[in-house]
Amino acid sequence: MKVVVVGGGSAGRTASIEATQIGEEVTLIENDKIGGKCLNTGCMVICGLNDVAKFAINAKKFNQIGITDINPKIDYEKVADGVKNTVGKIRGVITSETKKSGVKIVTGTAEIGDGFVTVDDKNYPYDKLIIATGSHAFLPPVKGVENAKTYKDILNYKKVPKKMLIVGSGTIATELAGLFSTFGTEVHILCRNTFLKEVESDIRSYIVEKLLKDVEIHENTAVSEIYPDGALTNSGRMDGEVMLAVGMNPNSDLVKHLVETGKKGEIIVDKRMETSNKDIYAAGDVVGGIGTTPVARMEGIVAARNACGVATEVDYSFTPSSISLYYDVSYIKTNEEGINGHIPGSAGPGAFWNVLDRETGFTKAIVGKEGEIMGVSSISPSAHTVLAYMSKFMKDGYQTHDFDNFVEAHPSTDAVYKLMKFFSKFE
Ligand SMILES: Cc1cc2nc3c(=O)[nH]c(=O)nc-3n(C[C@H](O)[C@H](O)[C@H](O)COP(=O)(O)OP(=O)(O)OC[C@H]3O[C@@H](n4cnc5c(N)ncnc54)[C@H](O)[C@@H]3O)c2cc1C
Ligand SMILES: NC(=O)c1ccc[n+]([C@@H]2O[C@H](COP(=O)([O-])OP(=O)(O)OC[C@H]3O[C@@H](n4cnc5c(N)ncnc54)[C@H](OP(=O)(O)O)[C@@H]3O)[C@@H](O)[C@H]2O)c1
Repeated sequence: MKVVVVGGGSAGRTASIEATQIGEEVTLIENDKIGGKCLNTGCMVICGLNDVAKFAINAKKFNQIGITDINPKIDYEKVADGVKNTVGKIRGVITSETKKSGVKIVTGTAEIGDGFVTVDDKNYPYDKLIIATGSHAFLPPVKGVENAKTYKDILNYKKVPKKMLIVGSGTIATELAGLFSTFGTEVHILCRNTFLKEVESDIRSYIVEKLLKDVEIHENTAVSEIYPDGALTNSGRMDGEVMLAVGMNPNSDLVKHLVETGKKGEIIVDKRMETSNKDIYAAGDVVGGIGTTPVARMEGIVAARNACGVATEVDYSFTPSSISLYYDVSYIKTNEEGINGHIPGSAGPGAFWNVLDRETGFTKAIVGKEGEIMGVSSISPSAHTVLAYMSKFMKDGYQTHDFDNFVEAHPSTDAVYKLMKFFSKFE
């Protein structure tokens, strides 16, 4: 069977490899860079910049407590070049990994016909098609929007802007604010409503007070016009370079004539990632659900399996959300009520020297009387790791006593599980 996958990002690449492993003939079409947003402009870029930002914060901290006397001057252009270089190396590795698995990669823009895909006048017939074309930054219909930058521009700065107005109140606004304020930019976040409304209030307070302490957050501040050097808001004109972080729109135009789409252009799929057209599947940001890499990969695998006749369904339960700052911020939200407990952050790697100023972060858990785990949020150097495992444990219905024989490496993620068991004894 011929399977054509359009889009070589997290969803498309994973889908291609899965379909090849099942034994089908797979062509993957990508019009820009293999690795998509996650590698080339998103997660990995933030991660690379964050490594340097964490170094700068630690250097300041160590100077303050008198154990070092270093004043790193960060050359942003060199940092950005370094990130691009490493991203290029990773791209080389994953491109060759994809080819080695048996996937044929075609470079060019796909146009979709019924039963075939066209790239540069050449037709690629398909029995099953998987659309994994991702999403792009949403540009709101505001006068002067062309003057604004988005996440795609951040590696093009020669030096960091003096002042930045970040419009948005979600994850990207938060991460960019953390980075640029550390690199020396005066950062203002302009939220049309509330900052990080999806995040629990005590986690949000920690982010605002400790991790974004040099950032000014303006809530209920809507932007009505954008200039090259500022923005008009309902509180007047503000100066600074405008950075938009107001969500994403699915790249679905290429296939709208063949499948049903929703209000924002997201391709409508069922739990098997099947669209309204029985030969077309879709996965990743283009379906407009939870916009993260692990979810895109899961959807890619499910789309590929079903396209190849192996019935599988996606499971979004207990999916962790994350924000990358000086500390990891990670949370799994459920609407269940239970016994709330706060655990101080452990004094291990990344937090050891922060014990002195009592800024080691914390973990918040919600547990039931029988030891059921109902929700976990964490801010610490290991929060992403703790929450990844918690997600699996919660999915599998683990209770606190199931951790009795869970032996971890110390110092790392340990302490969380034992303390949850302790809470469950209170009522
Ligand atoms: C700044 C930023 C930081 C992020 N950080 C994180 C993070 O830390 N953790 C996390 O889990 N998620 C993060 N995300 C989200 C994550 O990057 C996305 O959810 C993920 O990349 C989606 O993968 P995808 O394969 O659906 O789409 P994409 O990665 O967008 O890939 C789609 C691909 O399709 C190609 N394409 C589009 N149209 C065509 C066409 N007509 N023909 C051929 N090719 C085409 C595109 O060039 C692209 O390569 C971040 C996103 C951003 C913007
Ligand atoms: N670590 C990670 O996993 C990670 C990191 C970065 C990005 N991502 C993913 O990348 C995607 C994009 O991130 P994002 O932060 O841009 O989107 P987001 O998390 O969806 O947040 C978008 C924000 O923009 C605001 N907004 C929407 N339209 C607006 C408008 N017209 N004017 C002003 N504000 C507006 C919304 O505000 P309201 O609250 O007022 O509605 C919302 O807070 C998300 O799917 C995210 O999950 C993930």
